[in-house]
Amino acid sequence: KILILDFGSQVTQLIARRVREAHVYSELHSFDVSIDFIREFKPTGIILSGGPNSVYESDYQADPKLFELGVPVLGICYGMQWMAESLGGKVEAGTVREFGFAEIGAQASSKLFGGLEDRKNSAGQSVLEVWMSHGDKVTALPAGFSVIASNEACPIAAISDEARGFYAVQFHPEVTHTLKGREMINRFVLDICGAKLSWTMPNYIDVAVAKIREQVGTDEVILGLSGGVDSSVAAALIHRAIGDQLTCVFVDNGLLRLNEGKQVMATFAEHLGVKVIHVDAAAQFMGHLAGVTDPEAKRKIIGREFVEVFQAESAKLPSAKWLAQGTIYPDVIESAGAKTGKAHTIKSHHNVGGLPETMKLSLLEPLRELFKDEVRELGVALGLAPELVYRHPFPGPGLGVRILGEVKQEFADLLRFADAIFIEELRATVDEKTGKNWYELTSQAFVVFLPVKSVGVMGDGRTYDYVVALRAVVTSDFMTAKWAELPYDLLGKVSNRIINEVKGINRVVYDVSGKPPATIEWE
Ligand code: XMP
Repeated sequence: KILILDFGSQVTQLIARRVREAHVYSELHSFDVSIDFIREFKPTGIILSGGPNSVYESDYQADPKLFELGVPVLGICYGMQWMAESLGGKVEAGTVREFGFAEIGAQASSKLFGGLEDRKNSAGQSVLEVWMSHGDKVTALPAGFSVIASNEACPIAAISDEARGFYAVQFHPEVTHTLKGREMINRFVLDICGAKLSWTMPNYIDVAVAKIREQVGTDEVILGLSGGVDSSVAAALIHRAIGDQLTCVFVDNGLLRLNEGKQVMATFAEHLGVKVIHVDAAAQFMGHLAGVTDPEAKRKIIGREFVEVFQAESAKLPSAKWLAQGTIYPDVIESAGAKTGKAHTIKSHHNVGGLPETMKLSLLEPLRELFKDEVRELGVALGLAPELVYRHPFPGPGLGVRILGEVKQEFADLLRFADAIFIEELRATVDEKTGKNWYELTSQAFVVFLPVKSVGVMGDGRTYDYVVALRAVVTSDFMTAKWAELPYDLLGKVSNRIINEVKGINRVVYDVSGKPPATIEWE
């Protein structure tokens, strides 16, 4: 297993991710863990992350005894500088900060780079495109090291002492901008460290199941099941570990997608045999939402009512000691900032609006170390249907933020039908170029209900009905998004079907706004 020491870079978690993508187990710990901890960890290799400080003036110093353990070490950015300084080299402030794409010439004989090439430069030499982000740089090598990559701005862009298995790079191989970065990390962990391929989801299930059993013992656990990917996978995993000690609470707030309640019960209660309490709270939610038009006020009401319903249900299970949540690694990072290894503030689950401290339950978060794609893989390995596991995200407030203005039962019903038609057609339409269907080709797609009426004509009669907007976006992080270039045929078919099949809607429009300036949801 690989030990990653975090010196505070914004992208340290990506190192962990790349190592796991090589199917090698890795853990991220703070740079200041003791040498005894490191010895006990028995790493097959150590990676030193980047960080925002300067080695010559910072107390971000790990224990240099780690260089005496006889295991390979890879230093990245600050990690390189700290390695160089600790082993007798020299680091100085550069005259310019180097930030962004850079080209380096790398030595073909290096175990880290040999044979890798993005293209040839004008002189016919092979170059690698890398991502740089640094002010300081190494200016003198420690004994035993040689330069293995360089460019004009950074003559010492990578160094190694192959005899001892020490490698260091000034650029960031963990970000995708470094085109061959993934391969460099693969080479380090697999070829240079010789790490075992142990990080696979079936392996992970065994480890996680054992850990959950140890944590909760014979206690009872409750979990708010939303039907979303994270809480579903958490439920399946915990159920695998402790069976009937787990009770899930599924709150139907009346703002779910078509047949969602039925599907959740079919998957969990019937198929997996999980204890699920199905609470039909639609009337309660609708009652509190009546007359409310402000988006934030609507969100708050939905969050508050959820907590109330959930608390009332959990009060009926007084023996429960644990509250399980589907918190995943990006949630942890988001709430803890870049710092790892230090105390994390636990994020109130954004889908449940934050449960109050008075619940006096300990938190069980078995997905805390997993990235979204790993959660999905885990879900499939646990026997959940791929359609569930690869579902688009759905916001906690549900259709409440997709019905503009006041939420009414009638609007929710119309929207549910229209939305189901859109999704069905996206799934049914395959793009010839990629062989994928349009549900797979979009990151999120849904229908928005606009409470305005427009005039239409159907058959011989005039209609005066509501409008819906189709929204489909492509994004990798949901922070920015492009509207999806859906084929006209598909848009036409969806429009026809909605207008013909959903009585009360006579007009369909397509949203062609990017984020920014628009957001993905309309409220
Ligand atoms: P926006 O509309 O801000 O959405 O571009 C970005 C992503 O976040 C989802 N979203 C929410 N998820 N509770 C959630 O759990 C919310 O209140 C909420 N608002 C937006 C949205 O669906 C998109 O994926």
